[in-house]
Amino acid sequence: SEKKRKYMHLTCLLNILNIPSSWAIDVPSSVKGLLGSCVVIPCSYNYPNAKVQTFTGIWTNDGNQVIYHPTESKMLEQYRRRTKLLGDISKSNCSLMIENLQQNDGGPFHFRIELGGYNSFSYLNKKVSISMIREPNAIDFSAHEDIKEGQPVSASCSVFHSCPTYPPAFHWSHSGEQHFQAQKLHDGQWKATSILMFRSNRTDHNKLLQCRVTYHGGKHQETSKTLKVKCKCHGQTNFPKNLER
Ligand SMILES: *[C@@H]1O[C@H](CO)[C@@H](O)[C@H](O)[C@H]1NC(C)=O
Ligand SMILES: *[C@@H]1O[C@H](CO)[C@@H](O)[C@H](O)[C@H]1NC(C)=O
Repeated sequence: SEKKRKYMHLTCLLNILNIPSSWAIDVPSSVKGLLGSCVVIPCSYNYPNAKVQTFTGIWTNDGNQVIYHPTESKMLEQYRRRTKLLGDISKSNCSLMIENLQQNDGGPFHFRIELGGYNSFSYLNKKVSISMIREPNAIDFSAHEDIKEGQPVSASCSVFHSCPTYPPAFHWSHSGEQHFQAQKLHDGQWKATSILMFRSNRTDHNKLLQCRVTYHGGKHQETSKTLKVKCKCHGQTNFPKNLER
């Protein structure tokens, strides 16, 4: 983004001038999370130029209770084995994953870094909340309406999610070649798309083409469309009645 680019320029300039860059963090103020599934809070932090021996990344709630700590015994009971730091904490990456999302995981949460041999800092000015959703948005499904016998068909199915570590899985009712695409949006949102390609034949006529999406944690949804395959033969616009089901 423009903001990020400016920030990078500033950081670069400060480095050239050898002025220590300061305590800063880049984290969205809110991330959507699907109940029972997982969420990844994208996060990167900065600290003044200093010699650092060890990096300890911690996430806490507003009551300063720890929801992530590398030492599990320091964490609130209900977050143990559910939270995880992704990425490299010594390379400014403070991204946090929370699994098996529960109603009271909304936060707000903030990050704290303890730099061994230097200093510690809590980024209290930038907190993140998780806005819980009970059900995922409807699937965006598209397929060619008019299919001609023998011609390639492509259908696509896409959904939004916020857990790139475990993206939703797609299952199609028809065999074919499948392609998966992941697109990063803003505020921890992702768009996952599955594209199915196959060559149609007359047995596909009036068949349901179904796309089923299963989210990490087990929630699933599906959508379908009836295939209409046009006959290429004898100038007919469609198959004779006895071939329709
Ligand atoms: C942080 O780490 C995660 C997981 O490895 C990665 O997907 C993400 O791109 C990293 N973020 C940055 C800003 O490098
Ligand atoms: C029609 O397509 C289906 C699904 O791809 C395939 O199983 C079947 O063998 C095909 N039938 C013919 C006559 O090509």
